[in-house]
Amino acid sequence: MPLKKKIQELKKRREEVQMGGGEKAIEKQLSMGKLTARERVIALVDEQSFHEYDLFVEHEARDFDMANKVLHGDGVIIGTGTINEEPIAVFAQDFTVAGGSLGMMHARKITKIMDHALKMRMPLIGINDSGGARIQEGVNSLAGYGEIFFRNTLASGVIPQISVILGPCAGGAVYSPALTDFVFVVENISKMFITGPEVIKTVLGEEISMEDLGGARVHSEITGNAHFYAKSEKECFEQIQKLLSFIPWSNDKKAPKKEVKPPKAKFKINNIVPGDSRQPYDIRDVVKAIVDDSDFLEVQELWATNMVIGFGRINGETCGFVCNQPLVLAGVLDVDSSDKAARFIRYCDAFNIPIVTLVDLPGYLPGIDQEHAGVIRHGAKILYAYSEATVPKVTIIIRKAYGGGYIAMGSRHLRSDFVFAWPSAEIAVMGPEGAANIIFRKEIMSAENPDEMRKLKVEEYKEKFANPYVAASKGYVDSVIEPDETRKLLIHAIDVAKNKQISGPKKKHGVPPF
Ligand code: HXC
Repeated sequence: MPLKKKIQELKKRREEVQMGGGEKAIEKQLSMGKLTARERVIALVDEQSFHEYDLFVEHEARDFDMANKVLHGDGVIIGTGTINEEPIAVFAQDFTVAGGSLGMMHARKITKIMDHALKMRMPLIGINDSGGARIQEGVNSLAGYGEIFFRNTLASGVIPQISVILGPCAGGAVYSPALTDFVFVVENISKMFITGPEVIKTVLGEEISMEDLGGARVHSEITGNAHFYAKSEKECFEQIQKLLSFIPWSNDKKAPKKEVKPPKAKFKINNIVPGDSRQPYDIRDVVKAIVDDSDFLEVQELWATNMVIGFGRINGETCGFVCNQPLVLAGVLDVDSSDKAARFIRYCDAFNIPIVTLVDLPGYLPGIDQEHAGVIRHGAKILYAYSEATVPKVTIIIRKAYGGGYIAMGSRHLRSDFVFAWPSAEIAVMGPEGAANIIFRKEIMSAENPDEMRKLKVEEYKEKFANPYVAASKGYVDSVIEPDETRKLLIHAIDVAKNKQISGPKKKHGVPPF
């Protein structure tokens, strides 16, 4: 056959396979407000940059009449492309082909592209849209998941792994996203659960919709499984592109440097924090008053909102911000906020991203709910994560730093390299009201006017302890600084810490309070 004809045949074969599960299935996909798998990849990567592999892979299942079924590409697309002109690896499950279910060859395609990503040190992006393990393929499907989970773990801390949930992600399938660094969800489209509504109805007799069980909002606000929430697939892809502009491509590279622009003039750092320490304010305004161009990419914006985490640049260099949020529960540490901060600190440490901590909290949240939810175990994670992190760590105590909160939030004692405090800082074992009630109880109780005496004693305590100067006199705080000196000092601190080298005792690995 002449080459020309062979080329025509190739084109015909390609077109046929690229029709996925056929017109009807594609129509159904689009009617749900979803793009097809191929459209998604094309929308995500730089124009004309996507190259697909294993287009002609077919399944090998024989049971349940599978021998007669053609499943184009076995329900998944894999390939490489570029985002922001840097290489990435991607897979996208094609729900139009057998519900994107994962059989043996489907899994092999995914593991092939995962291996490429790890070997070639590029981010891996997985678009999940699947009914889970392909039931007809039995243990081969389960084996496929196992192979994926193993690779997720192997690649963890080496290359960024991003999961995008654009349809169902059911059963054990959820554990691949859960093992990756960032999970993106889209309103009305993402559905993520271990056991679906039908099983719940059978086993527990309860009726629940997929949305209420594991929709995008549930995972963004309640479970914390999702890191980014979008209203449309387009917005979701833009979020991924933005995230990739902040993070390094692998653990041996630096994040791309950006042209340095000063923070926007509207964020006036001297005017954000109220004088009365009981008044709240938005810590994100402080971050925006510090970072280049006031450009702050918040992670897990809707979950455990008493803690704010995210990426910003200081003089062109990406930093991870870990901040108490006085707007929510006065910024306390609790079970979820400890988990949120600890995981992010470990991400930054794995990828050589300096950590900037902004402190304003009254301590750990008291109460039986928190105690029984394991605040001891969860709270320990943040201590472990800060202590273990060897990247440059700079802490700024803005206002309250009480009790365990003072120690946990990147204190000198957990080896922050630089600790600065604003003059508004209050560093003490506990807040003035609580402390005065305990240590001056006798005087207060025996006074003619106990309320008056309590006020006096609170003031006395504040004057003595609730300031940064006691900590500064011991060297626990390196400098007491004016708020508008913060950016200048951060630029300097991160610059001088760039060649930081420390090593701990030899060990295989520690045993963190997971
Ligand atoms: C084989 C599957 C499938 C599966 C869907 N399909 N899920 N085929 N194995 N797991 C097929 C359907 O038979 C159908 O084929 C096509 O995909 C589209 O599915 P529909 O049901 O028509 O779509 P929809 O109504 O949109 O419902 C989607 C769904 C539902 C909610 C995902 O299909 C569903 O509940 N599937 C099962 C989900 C589940 O329980 N998975 C867990 C499996 S166990 P035709 O030919 O009719 O078009 C698991 C354990 C892994 O994953 C453990 C790893 C550690």
